[in-house]
Amino acid sequence: MRRAVCPGSFDPITNGHLDIIERASKLYDVVHVVVAVNHNKQGMFSTEERIALIEETTAHLGNIEVEPHSGLLVDYCKQRGIPAIIKGLRAVSDFDYELQMAQMNHGLTGVETLFVPTSPTYSFLSSSLVKEVATLGGDVSHLLPGLVHRRLVERIAERRK
Ligand code: PNS
Repeated sequence: MRRAVCPGSFDPITNGHLDIIERASKLYDVVHVVVAVNHNKQGMFSTEERIALIEETTAHLGNIEVEPHSGLLVDYCKQRGIPAIIKGLRAVSDFDYELQMAQMNHGLTGVETLFVPTSPTYSFLSSSLVKEVATLGGDVSHLLPGLVHRRLVERIAERRK
């Protein structure tokens, strides 16, 4: 079984994430989508909610496993014998930090990082920008899976109460 990890915060999953996960799912038998748990950062969605949104929006692919992980990503990979991490690269600005992480991760356990160029349609897209625009009343419906957009709109309305 050829397996790879797609890691991220996924707060929430966007069409950009989905593009990378879909492409990774064609290259590997199983893709583990790993939701990094950051106890110091309060997100828009809980880890459980993020996982549910990823599961629901990737169910059609049939070879995706979604799990939370706190701690080093390389430990997740090592515990399961997974040799590769897949990351999307949106623009040159992503490259510096992604290269640092890839080199650090390789130095720690030998895990490889493979970069997939994000579709130009989503090269400007990030979860944080989507949340900011949606909170300020902008239309982000074309940037998120329908279900995720509905839950984001609901969450923003709840927070206003
Ligand atoms: O979606 P994000 O927030 O850009 O994803 C960043 C993420 C979660 C992939 C990165 O922060 C990560 O791998 N975190 C897990 C902890 C870890 O291994 N840190 C050392 C990285 S070299």
